[in-house]
Amino acid sequence: MSQIKKIAVMTSGGDSPGMNAFIRAVVRYGIAKNIEVYGIYEGYQGLIENRIKLMDFDSVCNIIQRGGTILKSSRSQEFREPEGREKAAENLKAIGIDALICCGGNGSYLGLEAFSQHWDGLLLGAPGTIDNDIQHTDYTIGYDTAVNTAVQAIDNLRDTGDSHNMSFIVEVMGRHCGDIARQVGIASGAIDVLMPETKSDIEAVLHTLRSSGHNIIIVAEGDETGGAIKLSEVLTKKYCEGHVDCKPNFRVCILGHIQRGGRPTARDRILSVKMAEFLIDEAFKGESLKAVGVKEDKLVLTALK
Ligand code: F6P
Repeated sequence: MSQIKKIAVMTSGGDSPGMNAFIRAVVRYGIAKNIEVYGIYEGYQGLIENRIKLMDFDSVCNIIQRGGTILKSSRSQEFREPEGREKAAENLKAIGIDALICCGGNGSYLGLEAFSQHWDGLLLGAPGTIDNDIQHTDYTIGYDTAVNTAVQAIDNLRDTGDSHNMSFIVEVMGRHCGDIARQVGIASGAIDVLMPETKSDIEAVLHTLRSSGHNIIIVAEGDETGGAIKLSEVLTKKYCEGHVDCKPNFRVCILGHIQRGGRPTARDRILSVKMAEFLIDEAFKGESLKAVGVKEDKLVLTALK
């Protein structure tokens, strides 16, 4: 058992629903284990600028149901440089932090790895991103909420689409990963899903649009077609070929950052709480440079590399 007395928690990269539940669980479980928990504001940038505060039981009141992150987040260019990381290390040393827990995506994990060359405390990660694009875990914190948010929005689109016999090309997030697109496609009854992992068949989409009725077509932002706007330009050209006064019967809807906000689902909250408690237990065992994941319903710890 290692002698952990002080830990710090931060959120980094694109925020995701459930990060607040994660922060709350780190603080409350940490306090229950008799350790001091510090919150780092604005991710790696805040770490460099020493925006670090001691948290107490009340500082995480009434946040479990809120999207976003009370600690705020950032994508720090300065932390990419050794000088930035050196400043960050000095700040943690000054307080005497033993372990740093970071909830974020791929970039945040790379940050932890790089930081290990400057600071010798324990470094642990939790997968916080709506994209579900981290290999060591079946689910990331925020993914389930993002899928539900998109499905709810598409249910609304269906009402107007049905009333006008109009189809929608809906773009969802996910960066280079098609998981959100695939799940949203199934749950919203989309006729087609275009995502980076498969080759997109534009002629098939065109055929759908030419048929009567309204249809939902999902396109992942990372799809090779270039996303909803580019896809719609290509489709409109083909759809209207040889027709004057052509009015396509489809519209584009980009859900964008709407998917990153909102109340986390129960599933995301539970995942966050379990992962937070698990990481603190692992810190007590002296684990470092590892991240928590969930594989076949079991919590696992995997090397960040
Ligand atoms: O990683 C989360 C995510 O929302 C991606 O789905 C998206 O590609 C990206 O972040 C958007 O980043 P930004 O908010 O910096 O535009």
